[in-house]
Order: sequence, then C-alpha cells, then structure tokens
Amino acid sequence: MAANSDESRGVVSAQLLRGQKALVTGANSGIGLATAVALGRAGADVVVNYVVGQDEADKVVEEIKGFGVRAYSYQADVSDEDQVTAMVARMVEEFGTIDIMVANAGLQRDAAVTEMSLAQWEKVISVNLTGQFLCARESAKEFIRRGVVEEVSRSAGKIICMSSVHQIIPWAGHVNYASSKGGVGMLMQTLAQELAPKRIRVNAIAPGAIRTPINRDAWSTPEAETDLLRLIPYHRVGDPDDIANAVVAMASDLLDYVVGTTLYVDGGMTLFPGFATGG
Ligand code: BGC
Repeated sequence: MAANSDESRGVVSAQLLRGQKALVTGANSGIGLATAVALGRAGADVVVNYVVGQDEADKVVEEIKGFGVRAYSYQADVSDEDQVTAMVARMVEEFGTIDIMVANAGLQRDAAVTEMSLAQWEKVISVNLTGQFLCARESAKEFIRRGVVEEVSRSAGKIICMSSVHQIIPWAGHVNYASSKGGVGMLMQTLAQELAPKRIRVNAIAPGAIRTPINRDAWSTPEAETDLLRLIPYHRVGDPDDIANAVVAMASDLLDYVVGTTLYVDGGMTLFPGFATGG
C-alpha cells in the first residue's frame, strides 16, 4: 500500500475518531467538503451543513456513508441564531450528542474600503465571526451537559474554528474578511481560556491559499498562479485535503494537549516571504 494512498490514510485515521459525532458548517464545497469527508473516513458520524446547494451536500453525505458511518445534510444559515440552535438540537436528537464542531462556513465580499457597503461589511462579519460564535456556543452547551466520555475521547468536546492566514496578515481590499478572521483568532483564544476547565478544547486552523472556489481568481490562470506562488515559500498551492487532514489531527486525542492554538497550514505564507530577499 502506498504511504499516501487513500487506503493507508483510511486505516490510520479509522482509529482516530471512531464513535465521535462531528458537525461541519459549509460542508458542501471547498475546505468544508474535504473536511467532512476526512472526518467520516476517520470514523466519525458527520452532519453536513450547507446554506445553498443541497445536491452537493447530498453527494457529500453519500460519499461519507461509503465509509460505513452515519451522515445527513442539514440546511442552516450559521449567522441565524434560531437556525444554528435548531441544527445542533436536531443533531443531538439524531446522533445523541456532538463531539466535534468545525466552524468552517465563511465567505468573502471584496471591495476597496471606499467602495465597501455596510451590507458587504456586515455580511462577512455575520457569517465568518458571528456564525462561529453561535456554533461554538451551541456545541459548548452540549459538551458541558454531557462531559467527558472516556471511551470516546479524553476531552469533553472540540471546537475547531476555521480561520485564515489573514488572522494575522493584513489584506488590502478585504477589510471585512481580514477583520472577521482577526476576530476569529481572539474568539478562539478567549473561548479556549473559558472552556478549557470544562475539558473542552478550542483551537483554530488557519489555511493559506487553498485551491477552492473562494479564491478561484488567484489560481485559475497560469499568470495568477505564478503571482500567488511568490507568496508561498513551499511553492505549491494547497489542496482542501491539506486542511482536512489538519482538522482530523486537531480533533483527535493525538493532539489532546493542544488548547487555544492556531495551526497555520499555509506552505509558509505567514513567514513573510518578501523578506527572503529584502529588508
Ligand atoms: C482567502 C483566500 C486567499 C488566502 C490567502 C484565504 O483566507 O479566503 O481568498 O487566497 O486566504 O491569501
């Protein structure tokens, strides 16, 4: 079996999350899709949240069921309090509980600051930041209610916030997005501090440039990709699986002592590559 084949990943990861229940928001495309599939492959039952695109979500569900675990799709807008509350309540009914919340759903509405409408600002903040707050809050309630179940995991629950390199890299023309991700960093750390005594682990994964629909313009032509690679010391655009694998590791007991950390999965984008030859 090749070291990196799907089978070998499956064998190793099947033991990692067996019996755990995971919810991934924005799981019908890009990073969320790959993450939901990887969690299923690792043995978790998975709720595939989406807001638009039921067909894609249902395809993800079918793929996950192929691993012999349970899965269903659920439509909810993460920025809507009632919908998030209902989504987690339904999961508790359906699967009995939740062990892993991956607050992944996010979007961009780019504009120069002088052109950016309040609606563009508010849309990004409400999905990327408020959405993560609501998902974290609802899952934390269930983690606290249930507590640690030793046979399942050493922790009472894991919240994984999908952040971005723009948690720390300013990004002209994207002030709403960069502000939302900066906020996610502090949301994550504050919740980690508050919830660690309850044995809940809160962490963030911060992707760099990953080949997904959100940034198609940045990699879909050879010229754009050449420009993008200048920002990535490792000189490869990331794949959704690069992030999905990091989420599986972060959710597993292998990283049980990792609390309140941001794991940058970015090919070195946060190493300020401009300084390799300047400064
Ligand atoms: C953004 C992408 C961008 C990447 C690196 C991500 O958070 O969503 O559009 O390519 O950061 O700049």
